[in-house]
Amino acid sequence: MALPSVEEQFADALKSIARNLEIKEYVQQSPELYPFFQRAAKRFVTGESRNDGISIGYQLIQKGYRISLEYIGENTTNKYECIRAKDEFIALMKECGNRGLSSRISFDLSHIGLSVDPELAYQNLAEMAKEAQSHGLTLMLSMEESAKTDQILSIYKRVVKEYSNVGVTLQAQLHRTLNDLNDLLNYAGTIRIVKGAYQEPSDISIPRSQTLDHRYLELVDLCVKAGHQVSIASHDEAIHRQIIERGYLQNPHVEVEMLYGIRPDLCRQLKDNGRSVRVYLTYGTEWYLYLCHRIAEYPPNIYVAITDMIRGGEDSSQLY
Ligand code: FDA
Repeated sequence: MALPSVEEQFADALKSIARNLEIKEYVQQSPELYPFFQRAAKRFVTGESRNDGISIGYQLIQKGYRISLEYIGENTTNKYECIRAKDEFIALMKECGNRGLSSRISFDLSHIGLSVDPELAYQNLAEMAKEAQSHGLTLMLSMEESAKTDQILSIYKRVVKEYSNVGVTLQAQLHRTLNDLNDLLNYAGTIRIVKGAYQEPSDISIPRSQTLDHRYLELVDLCVKAGHQVSIASHDEAIHRQIIERGYLQNPHVEVEMLYGIRPDLCRQLKDNGRSVRVYLTYGTEWYLYLCHRIAEYPPNIYVAITDMIRGGEDSSQLY
């Protein structure tokens, strides 16, 4: 068996560091480190306030993109904070509604209650789905570590029966996803397919490889052939080429979705060629883990992050 490359080892180490709460708290409470990391985060996060997300979202819609908005956070550990997070999402939706901003609202279920009490997560999700529906908005559940997959899917299936404006993300890297997708095709909501950002045990997951890319396309094929609404959430040009060759991007049910600050050139090129492109924008103060993931999934970003720390982060919105 081939040994992991230095880059793979670095990415795995960074994913572990990202999950280490002591390191996270140390960085976020350090008056020296915090501003440095924040400069690096600026490339990938619109800012700390709701208005930062909304105003960049508005600019991108004007340029012909669709958007997703997320108030960043996860693994909230007390009920009060879960309700506060849910209230922020409700306020975000009201503001989108008032400004006529058509957005997908994306989030982790563990941000609004899953880590405290699954019933709290369900209640908060149902309240958000109702609010979203009243403004013509859609919700999208992110997919978290595999230990949470069953709970997330079970809550999702419960809520989507009543609110078809809620979608869910599936990770191609997990072996189980093929079965999960076949099941979810019986439900109404949009399915977002990602490769997977979490470090998972090798017996349940496929590492980055051609095998994973084949699985990814297999999942997309299944959605498209079933006439299901699908979001192809990847920055991988080889995946994009395949779906363009298969004619999928002419299908109104299919779109490409990419994270803010990553490959804005590719987003622009696809959009200028008439493809549906959604940009995923985040805001909030909990950007640390998000930044670590963006570096871990593409280790050359460490050089970009260090340069941003020294010179000041780039405002990505101008690059679209
Ligand atoms: P992959 O990692 O295979 O890399 C292929 C190429 O893409 C690279 O060679 C590089 O050119 C480019 N690239 C990828 N990442 C880059 C980066 N950070 N910077 C610069 N270039 C990069 N994950 C998850 O587990 N749960 C979730 O809910 C979500 N949600 C989500 C929503 C959206 C809209 C996106 C785009 C992604 C997610 N993810 C996610 C993250 C996802 O699982 C995955 O980790 C990243 O998208 C990276 O995988 P790719 O398919 O993009 O390419």
